Amino acid sequence: MDRLKDKVAIITGAGAGMGRETSILFAKEGCKVAVFEINEKDGMDTVSIINSNGGNAKFWKVDVSNELNVKSAVDDVINTYGKIDILINNAGITGVDKKTHELSLAEWDQVFNVDVKGVFFCTKYVVPYMLKNKKGSIVNLSSIYGTLGSHELTPYHAAKGAVFAMTKQDALNYAKDNIRVNSIHPGTIMTPLVIELGSRMEGGLEAYNKIMNEKHPIGHAGEPIDVAYGCLYLASDESKFVTGATLYIDGGYSAM
Ligand SMILES: NC(=O)c1ccc[n+]([C@@H]2O[C@H](COP(=O)([O-])OP(=O)(O)OC[C@H]3O[C@@H](n4cnc5c(N)ncnc54)[C@H](O)[C@@H]3O)[C@@H](O)[C@H]2O)c1
Repeated sequence: MDRLKDKVAIITGAGAGMGRETSILFAKEGCKVAVFEINEKDGMDTVSIINSNGGNAKFWKVDVSNELNVKSAVDDVINTYGKIDILINNAGITGVDKKTHELSLAEWDQVFNVDVKGVFFCTKYVVPYMLKNKKGSIVNLSSIYGTLGSHELTPYHAAKGAVFAMTKQDALNYAKDNIRVNSIHPGTIMTPLVIELGSRMEGGLEAYNKIMNEKHPIGHAGEPIDVAYGCLYLASDESKFVTGATLYIDGGYSAM
């Protein structure tokens, strides 16, 4: 119940999928949750779920790809809660499914603006407060696609690969400051993002599920709670000796 007692977390993209599930789990474990979300209704819904169950959450409308927006929201979290112990860089989009020679610059930038610059901006503005607090835990949501190739989503692979590399670099740069930085690499997790992606495929969601079930040795896709528990471990002091780690939560996908 108290694995994150008295800690404060910023969770980006907390209005749906893994971000919402992680926010709810963190609140149950005694954490105050700053919900950073571009979609106001979804963000507010996460906050009401938490607060109506006795937790403590507050909503900030944030587009993680907008530097000023991120800076002012992070400063405001400090005004509200006084410190930031945990940053979960979760907000992400998949973008278009095209090969490199078919991509426009705008399509490339669309994914990088959210998935890479978003992680950069949130880390940039949270770290100074963690330095002041002399500790912190940052968890970056990369993907199995950040370290492996596949049949789809080229710019997403490149963006999640950047997040993987940023994690290693930040882990080394801030290790002496007691700020730990780790990445999580989920396989297919049934969230709104994946349901939308699967529905766009030829044969729809059913065909997508069939392919994805076969690709995961465990025989099925994951659930948001599977990733939320990984975030909980890396955010808590239980992982105090863990930094720069690459945690696959993928039903064995990356073991093949
Ligand atoms: N679902 C999967 O199978 C899977 C697998 C590997 C990695 N991931 C990664 O995990 C993370 C969460 O994925 P999910 O499936 O829960 O996604 P989701 O689409 O279900 O939820 C993402 C949330 O982020 C928000 N968001 C999008 N752009 C934003 C922005 N610019 N600023 C703030 N919020 C923004 C969305 O509104 C949404 O609420 C993403 O980074 C994703 O790339 C997902």
